[in-house]
Amino acid sequence: MPESSGQSELTAAAGALARARRVAVLTGAGVSAESGLRTFRGATAADLPADMQALWKEFDPMRLATPEAFDADPAMVTRWYDWRRLGCLAAEPNPGHRALATLEGRLGGASGSFHLLTQNVDRLHQKAGSRNVVELHGSIIEWRCVRTGRAFLPPPEPFESFPPPSPHAAGAVLRPNVVWFGEALPEAALAAAYAAAESCDLFMSVGTSSVVYPAAGFLDVASANGAVTIEVNREPTPISERVDHCLLGRSGEVLPALLRAAFDADAR
Ligand code: OAD
Repeated sequence: MPESSGQSELTAAAGALARARRVAVLTGAGVSAESGLRTFRGATAADLPADMQALWKEFDPMRLATPEAFDADPAMVTRWYDWRRLGCLAAEPNPGHRALATLEGRLGGASGSFHLLTQNVDRLHQKAGSRNVVELHGSIIEWRCVRTGRAFLPPPEPFESFPPPSPHAAGAVLRPNVVWFGEALPEAALAAAYAAAESCDLFMSVGTSSVVYPAAGFLDVASANGAVTIEVNREPTPISERVDHCLLGRSGEVLPALLRAAFDADAR
């Protein structure tokens, strides 16, 4: 088991997981950290390719992940997103992603038995085999026409121009099909997330700083409806004090250990 989680806490959380029939899991960038993808609040200019470092001395998602940034400099913003898109396409799921796919399989796939609510745009949960995934912040793999709103799956090569021209409307351009700060979350995803949080008997928050709403509020919705709550994070967050079980450590280690303890099975 991961050194940083207390054994008794892990055992207690595993007991709750073994008893749970309806599970909802919220994930954030931390789950993909062990796949080599940077978290939002951990990245610095040093993480960027050399030619981009001049553009961003201090990498700040609050500045780049906004409609205002795209309007002001679509070439710069799409170049950054294209770099991240290719990084996501090249990345592979880690044991944390796979453990969540295993958990979904164990719950039998019955309607409503498992919901994976993710803030991640990298599609690694789906690559690991998770099926019931709610993408709260869209996907960086898909792009959409700014004029028609139609989504488009670009080929897995770098774009030739920034921003790329839309194939759907003359003179229009593509933008990443993600939710930017200041934009509304997709209605269907939000409704599905609230329904999952309200109806689950166990809610798990994994690898998220729990500072971006509404996602950070799902745990309280679940808790208010009687669900047991578990947090898995490398470090304490604003919700650590109020979850039933706080498991400190890397999700790629904690989640497989949790599943092994809950089901006495290999959770790779
Ligand atoms: P953040 O970058 O804010 O937080 C990542 C969290 O993962 C932190 O709490 C880390 O401690 C934790 N972490 C890092 N490595 C970990 C590991 N190996 N195992 C477990 N935990 C680990 O990312 P998010 O919470 O996903 O929104 O950010 C939420 C949203 O803010 C994003 O979806 C994005 C962002 O700006 C939009 O773009 C709208």
